[in-house]
Amino acid sequence: MTMTLPQIALLGTGNMSGAILQGLLQPHVQVSGIRATTRTAASALALVEQGVDAHSLEHDPGANRTAVAEAEIIVMGVKPYQILELLADLLDDAPPHATIVSVAAGITLESMESVWPGAVVRAMPNTPAQVGKGMTGLARGSRTSDDQAAMAEALFSTVGEVLVVEEDQINALSSISGSGPAYVYLFIEHFMEVARAHGFTDDQSRVMVEGTFSGAMEVLARSGKSPEQLRVDVTSPGGSTAAALAAFEQADLASIFASASAAAIARAEEMASE
Ligand SMILES: NC(=O)c1ccc[n+]([C@@H]2O[C@H](COP(=O)([O-])OP(=O)(O)OC[C@H]3O[C@@H](n4cnc5c(N)ncnc54)[C@H](OP(=O)(O)O)[C@@H]3O)[C@@H](O)[C@H]2O)c1
Repeated sequence: MTMTLPQIALLGTGNMSGAILQGLLQPHVQVSGIRATTRTAASALALVEQGVDAHSLEHDPGANRTAVAEAEIIVMGVKPYQILELLADLLDDAPPHATIVSVAAGITLESMESVWPGAVVRAMPNTPAQVGKGMTGLARGSRTSDDQAAMAEALFSTVGEVLVVEEDQINALSSISGSGPAYVYLFIEHFMEVARAHGFTDDQSRVMVEGTFSGAMEVLARSGKSPEQLRVDVTSPGGSTAAALAAFEQADLASIFASASAAAIARAEEMASE
């Protein structure tokens, strides 16, 4: 299904906004226009080589202001400490009806609304957005209309799933889906370490573990069954899988997950007040 989006400015086009850019460049996505900016000329050149209208501050110190001049969506892809200053710099040049979308961790809607008099949206995407399999949490500001929120939702749906949440749930969401890919990689690392300890080579360990994760995810996606049901299905009572799962239980895996999420939330709150 074709998706249409209005003129977009991507201010700071590194890892995260670069992933969003790839979503926007898909054939089924029609954008009125995209202007991207970077700090260095080298980063802008890499985008220009992909056919993107990209400009660096190194070549043109006014690149951000030019990029936003006709934008209806302005994606702030710079580091969190730069967001409010950059926003203040745009006040004279960005159209007042433009929606500001920030992907910056820890920068609140209230702080953005104290600088920008119009609509703001706070997004928390995760790294699988790079391959179109992201999970983005979105919270809207007090002056953001339904249409503007829907536009932001459409933007992030080009790189995966979107969940609209209240801002006070953003840190909790981030502790699950934002940090989540790291938890999955940690599991894979430990799993592969065990395989190597059993004498398998690096390649064999990788094939075994990655195949297991992707196969299990595919079954979960296609079967319509809950993870609990699927776990029960592969666990014969008294069998070897049951013995392995009992070892996880004994280590109280459930409470490890809960304390990992709590630690991520606590740190996010701490960073927001620094
Ligand atoms: N990476 C993630 O997994 C992730 C997840 C969720 C949210 N985020 C958020 O995404 C934001 C960006 O993170 P990132 O990992 O994408 O960082 P990054 O890869 O370092 O990208 C930052 C981009 O901003 C450019 N830049 C720096 N100063 C600029 C300025 N004044 N005007 C215009 N462009 C400027 C950089 O240009 P050069 O390349 O030329 O230096 C680069 O293109 C952060 O706020 C972060 O909290 C990231």
